Amino acid sequence: MRLGIIGGGLMGREAASAFARWFVLEDFPVQVELVAVCDLQDKLLDWFKKVPTVKLLTKDHNELLRSPDVDVVYVAVPHNLHEKLYLDVLNAGKDLLAEKPFGIDLAAAKTIRDAAKKSGRFVRCSSEFPFLPGAQRVFQAAQSGQFGKLLEIHSCFWHASDLDPTKPINWKRQNKFCGEIGVMGDLGMHVVHVPFRLGWNPKRVYAQLQKIYTERPDGKGGMAACDTWDNALLHTDVVVNGQEVPMRLEMKRMAPGETNTWWIEVLGTDGGLRYSTKEPKTLWTFQRGKEQIWQKTDLGHQMAFPTITGGIFEAGFPDCFLQMWAAYAAERAGALGNRMGCVTPDEAVASHELFAAALESHKKKLVVTI
Ligand SMILES: NC(=O)c1ccc[n+]([C@@H]2O[C@H](COP(=O)([O-])OP(=O)(O)OC[C@H]3O[C@@H](n4cnc5c(N)ncnc54)[C@H](O)[C@@H]3O)[C@@H](O)[C@H]2O)c1
Repeated sequence: MRLGIIGGGLMGREAASAFARWFVLEDFPVQVELVAVCDLQDKLLDWFKKVPTVKLLTKDHNELLRSPDVDVVYVAVPHNLHEKLYLDVLNAGKDLLAEKPFGIDLAAAKTIRDAAKKSGRFVRCSSEFPFLPGAQRVFQAAQSGQFGKLLEIHSCFWHASDLDPTKPINWKRQNKFCGEIGVMGDLGMHVVHVPFRLGWNPKRVYAQLQKIYTERPDGKGGMAACDTWDNALLHTDVVVNGQEVPMRLEMKRMAPGETNTWWIEVLGTDGGLRYSTKEPKTLWTFQRGKEQIWQKTDLGHQMAFPTITGGIFEAGFPDCFLQMWAAYAAERAGALGNRMGCVTPDEAVASHELFAAALESHKKKLVVTI
C-alpha cells in the first residue's frame, strides 16, 4: 500500500511515524510505504525529508494525486478543506483515509459519502481510540450481550487545554475553518465510533452546548473571535434489544484536569465495563453476584493485530493509531476478518446527522428526533 499524505501537520506526521514503525506488526499481510507528501509549509516538507521512502514533496496536492506511485491518500487538513480535497482524491482514482469529521457539515459529508460510493474507491474515516485493548474489550463484551438489560451508556472525550484563556486562537476554534458543530466536529467521531458500530444509533437528542471564551489572543498582539462550541453534552436515546436506553455523549475542550481522556462505560443489570485512557491499562469490570464487585484488571499489549511488543507492555496513542491504520489496510485487502474496522462513510454521515440535530436541539431547547 503506497501512501500519499496531504496535510503534514500534527496528524500527517503522526501517520508518517506509524508507517515507519509498521514492522512492529507480526505476520501482517500488507506492506506500507509513504511515498509522497503535500503541505503548504516549507518547514513541514523539510521534516518529511527524514523519511527515506518519500520521493515526492510538493505544495500542490494535484501533483501528488497525479503520481502513479500513490495508491492511498491520507488527508489531514482543516475541516473547511475536507470536501474539496476528498473529492479531488476520489476523482484522481485513489483510495482515501479521511480525517474526521468527514466534511465541515452534514451537506459536505453527504456529498463526500455519495462520491465515495459512486467512485467505488475504498474510503474510511479516522478514529483510533477504539483500537486500544481496553476499548476493544468493551466492544467485544457489548457485542456478546453479557451485560443483561442495558441501564445506561456513556461515551466521552475530554480535554482541558482550552481552560487557559491566554492560549492563542487556531483554526479549530473558528467556525469558518472548524465548522458550526465546533467541538462535536473536533471530538465527536471519537465518541460515536463504538456505539454506532454496535448499532446504538440515537433516535432522539437533547443537546447542551457551551461557548465559554468568545475571544482569544490572535498571536499578533491582538484578540480574535473564538466562536466555536467548547463543550457539548448530548443526551440521547438508543434502542437495544427492543428497549430504550439512555446514552450520553460528551465532547469537551474544557474538562478540568483532563488532557486527552477518551472513556466509555456500559452498564447493565448483569454486568458492566468501564475503560478510560486516563488509566490506559486498566479495565474496570462490574460483576453482580451475592456481593457487587468492581474489579480492576491490568491489560497489556493485546492488540487486534498482533505485534512483536511484549504482552505485558502497556499501549498508548501511537499504538492505537497504528492499529487503526492496520485495520484500514487489512479491510482494504479483504483481510479484516471479524475485527472492528475504521469508521465507514455511512457512519460519518450518521454522526453529522446527530450533530446537526444537536445544533437544532440546543437552539430550540427541545428534544429533536433524528
Ligand atoms: N484522529 C485524531 O486523533 C485527530 C487529532 C487531531 C486532528 N485530527 C484531524 O486531522 C485533521 C488535521 O488536523 P491537524 O491537527 O493535523 O491540523 P494541523 O493544523 O496541525 O495540520 C493541518 C495541515 O494542513 C496543511 N494544509 C492546509 N491546507 C492545505 C492544502 N491545500 N494542501 C496541503 N496541505 C494543506 C497545513 O499547512 C497544516 O500543516 C483535521 O480534520 C482534524 O480534525 C484528528
